[in-house]
Amino acid sequence: MKVLLATQKPFAAKAVEGIAGILTEAGHEVVRLEKYAEQADLEAAAADAEAMIIRSDKVTAEVIAAAPKLRIVVRAGAGYDNVDLAAASARGIVVMNTPGQNSNAVAELALAMMIFMARTQFTPATGSELAGKRLGVQAYGNVGRLVGAKARALGMTVSALDPFLTDGQIVEGGAEPVHSVEELYAASDYLSIHIPALPSTIGSIGYELITKMPKGATLVNTARKEVIDEAGLMRALEERPDLKYVTDVMPDNYAALQEKFGLRVFATPKKMGAQTAEANINAGLAAARQIADFFATGNTRFQVNK
Ligand code: 3PG
Repeated sequence: MKVLLATQKPFAAKAVEGIAGILTEAGHEVVRLEKYAEQADLEAAAADAEAMIIRSDKVTAEVIAAAPKLRIVVRAGAGYDNVDLAAASARGIVVMNTPGQNSNAVAELALAMMIFMARTQFTPATGSELAGKRLGVQAYGNVGRLVGAKARALGMTVSALDPFLTDGQIVEGGAEPVHSVEELYAASDYLSIHIPALPSTIGSIGYELITKMPKGATLVNTARKEVIDEAGLMRALEERPDLKYVTDVMPDNYAALQEKFGLRVFATPKKMGAQTAEANINAGLAAARQIADFFATGNTRFQVNK
């Protein structure tokens, strides 16, 4: 089978080597498309692909229409909001992710961002410490749990909200359960967002919620920019000069935020949470194994469009 490795943001060389090794050993052919400029490049490359491995690459209805032989898409990572699931399902194409494989990298970045903001973006201004502060984790999944564990090791207290977990499971995971998003924001000096971008979550974090945060709080977003209501964020930061926002997913209004709020805001220029050699290898190799296994045995364990 022809497997297209389409990564606008390429994997580390070791990961690419490992992916190619697994798939060629299983009798497949690997074609690479990296750092491409246009969606049209992806559409052209997908024309004869039977499988695809992607990252945040956008597998739209157009890409699917341009790939008549496509049978499986594996998102090497967690979030699959970049894949048109309805279009894939309509064609019977299996879509999978590789849950947990890049979580540690994202969790480490979330903690790094907290320290970066606590230390006023590494300027000589007097900063503060994470020890003794309260961390709220919004969604206690693979990344959220790791953020919680690392935060506890730094002396923070951790509370978490997750509608898919019981109180017992959250306690077992080392956090204090919280039962409403308002309560979580109100009790968090640092609030780390780990919710997916879904119709129900897009734009869900705005003025009302952000201004519930206590004095001097920092909102940390290593999830998706779409979950933030950017106008609401702007208004909250305007009214509350004590609040800070740090994100791995550059807001559309970042230039205006920077101009108004300076060191109180920071965004990475390109999403880098999962951009470590280890995460590339873990997620990339898992994706290759899932494809090899799907063609060999029909295994659809990590399918997200069942
Ligand atoms: C994910 O959903 O796994 C992360 O956002 C990482 O995305 P990336 O593979 O584009 O870095």
